[in-house]
Amino acid sequence: MNLTAEAVAHPNIALAKYWGKVEGADYMPAVPSASLTLSGLSTTTRVTFDEELAADSLMLGGRPAHGVPLARIVRALDILRAEAKVDLRARVESVNDFPTASGLASSASAFAALVTAGTFALGIDATVEKRSDLARRMSVSAARSIAGGWSALEAGSGAHESLSARSLAPVDHWDVRMIVAVVTEAPKSVGSTEGMASTQRTSPDYARWLREAPHWFHEVCDGVRARDLARAGAAMEASTLAMHQTMRSSVPPLIYATGVTQALIDTVYATRDAGRSAYFTMDAGPHVKVLVGVDDAEFVRSQLQRVPGVLRTICCGPGPGARVVEARS
Ligand code: PMV
Repeated sequence: MNLTAEAVAHPNIALAKYWGKVEGADYMPAVPSASLTLSGLSTTTRVTFDEELAADSLMLGGRPAHGVPLARIVRALDILRAEAKVDLRARVESVNDFPTASGLASSASAFAALVTAGTFALGIDATVEKRSDLARRMSVSAARSIAGGWSALEAGSGAHESLSARSLAPVDHWDVRMIVAVVTEAPKSVGSTEGMASTQRTSPDYARWLREAPHWFHEVCDGVRARDLARAGAAMEASTLAMHQTMRSSVPPLIYATGVTQALIDTVYATRDAGRSAYFTMDAGPHVKVLVGVDDAEFVRSQLQRVPGVLRTICCGPGPGARVVEARS
């Protein structure tokens, strides 16, 4: 017996950031987050469960992957196997059309695509809510890529049995652009799971982050619902800077920004001073993503592209949720 499916998912960028897990709970976020799924970047994943296979395997961008990436996939497949009550090993083939594991939310699209292909292949009755909950248990941000468009994920607690992202607004609610300024092709030195654990343990700013993050979340949600770029953008920048401050004051310090990151932020401030509506955010990596109105997108993109050290810019619109593109058994 061999059960195969292929799915496509897009990364999402948090406007209100998630950083930190509830202690003693299974991948429950300690703060609420809200995001936009991006149309211009995608992960395509094919999963084949086969009784002939002796072990799980992962091909990433056409090359066999081992170590941590494979271990995370085996853990994710175990979650799917437990759900379907089967004991079949799987072959996972995944391709990203953007840099992997460098702070461009590749784990969000990777696990959203894996859950979507895997549940379909195994015949699990998987609603969007169910798939979002399964994806959260593999990578919290992946829960938000399942529904697509504008998504929100509440904070969890030890008392929750499940937690899924919900749609804040559909993909066609608000036509904006997120310009991704790519600064490196290299994977990040400290992954987000490890980085968060260190922040929680050592940062004197973590308690303040837990107190303040819900405020930025509500501001982002209200700004998105009202299609108010200044309100959503200001809250997104505040959430980003608070998260990075918490990372920086960890011991040892967790500094993802580089000189190029700072030059990109300065460029965003300069375009704003010149009357354009543009707002920045960063994740666990040096890239900068800029939220901008459609009319200002081309100008802002040309300014970002000119910053020395920027490898390229990618202009993304709101993107759809994860979906099966091919299935065979
Ligand atoms: O769920 P993870 O491990 O991919 O963590 C994502 C963390 C950030 O990208 C920094 C913020 C976020 O909410 O996406």
